[in-house]
Amino acid sequence: MIRVGVIGVGTVGRAVVSILEENASIISARAGDTIIVKSGVVRNLDKVRDLSILVSQDPYDIINDPEIDIVVELMGGIETPFEILKSALKNGKAVVTANKAVLAYHRYELQEIAGEIPFEFEASVAGGIPIINALRDGLSANHILSIMGIMNGTCNFMLTKMMKEGVAFDAVLDEAQALGYAEADPTFDIGGFDAAHKLLILASIAYGIDAKPEEILIEGIEGITQADIAFAKEFGYTIKLLGIAARDGAEVELRVHASLVRESAMIAKIDGVMNGISVVGDRVGETLYYGPGAGGNATASAVVANIIDIVRSGKRSPMLGFNHPLEEGLHLKNRDDICSKYYLRLRVLDKPGILAKITQLFADHSISIEAVIQRPSETECAHLLFATHEATERSVRELMSQLEVLDAVLETPYMIRIV
Ligand code: NAP
Ligand code: HSE
Repeated sequence: MIRVGVIGVGTVGRAVVSILEENASIISARAGDTIIVKSGVVRNLDKVRDLSILVSQDPYDIINDPEIDIVVELMGGIETPFEILKSALKNGKAVVTANKAVLAYHRYELQEIAGEIPFEFEASVAGGIPIINALRDGLSANHILSIMGIMNGTCNFMLTKMMKEGVAFDAVLDEAQALGYAEADPTFDIGGFDAAHKLLILASIAYGIDAKPEEILIEGIEGITQADIAFAKEFGYTIKLLGIAARDGAEVELRVHASLVRESAMIAKIDGVMNGISVVGDRVGETLYYGPGAGGNATASAVVANIIDIVRSGKRSPMLGFNHPLEEGLHLKNRDDICSKYYLRLRVLDKPGILAKITQLFADHSISIEAVIQRPSETECAHLLFATHEATERSVRELMSQLEVLDAVLETPYMIRIV
């Protein structure tokens, strides 16, 4: 059994506890061991909270607990968590953090202290998107030519609401805070610093650049007014806060700023709390990563993935899981039972009674028609185009085989599933 201690049981910490409890069976099947949260740490013990774990106020209760194998830091901040993470690693604990601020300043020192001890931080960039995994492992054969994208969920949520619904800056910031997207100090989000912290982490993985936030260009979205929004709309742009890393010969440029992006660009279509990051490798070309960039569950999904990864390391590679099926009773659905909506095209004789005969066959198979169009094709022939409501694959296949043998049906019916 592996025991985890969670330092910071707030938006993300609570979700980590709940995932480890509620998804326990699938997690142990993937990790090859049982993982439990032994205890947590919060700042204010008087706050009313509905938690299933014991909590204290002292991070060292976890760091010095010999039973705890993995320390998860989800408290936020820079210098205090830096001290805590150093102590945890020096005590030989594996560490997982979602704290991009501490990594923006101290990632190389922490990595050096960690040495062979697992030190993971997938959730620190782009919430639930496994972008660090993709850069570190999936794209490791490539020179990274550029990284560009939306890396702050709060700003993207705010800009989307401001552009699409005309909501005022302050009101939409309050909403982002209430939804658990914003940092404890939201100026980190709107000032572009949070995106910069993430960009620095990605730049370290892609280029090994050891820069600090003060050394790169950082601008936020605070200056954007209704006039800028009106201009963008009028000229076919949207406004996004982008983090950009690009290689130019022997130089790597790093910048975060609001940008006018053509409405037709893929990145312009990434709205709300979603993040989207494009990575261009010299061999693979452009790859794109999209998903929720903030929020308790999305972020905790990445934190727990790191925990699972640490637990299974050193064992045989369980690419397909330690058990199969992963959950008892899980089995392949018979493909005839799959449900979908369908589009059907029939070429038929254009004669009285044909449509009635055909639609009766739909009814006989309990397939409900959502829409039908008849288009003349050639003399005395017509195309009948149907859209159905949800039906099973079995019933549609049976219908098609009965349609096919009707004298009035002139060619094999054609079907496309509506997804
Ligand atoms: P949060 O809701 O503010 O939770 C922070 C937790 O840490 C709270 O339980 C707080 O205690 C505790 N804490 C803070 N300072 C402490 C101290 N000095 N000693 C003991 N406990 C302390 O923050 P969050 O949104 O979960 O974020 C946590 C970390 O994840 C941050 O580094 C953040 O940047 C990162 N992150 C967050 C998101 C997101 O969407 N929220 C996404 C990616 C990464 P109290 O409950 O008593 O205040
Ligand atoms: N405050 C951050 C954001 C949380 O809005 O993107 C995720 O890192």
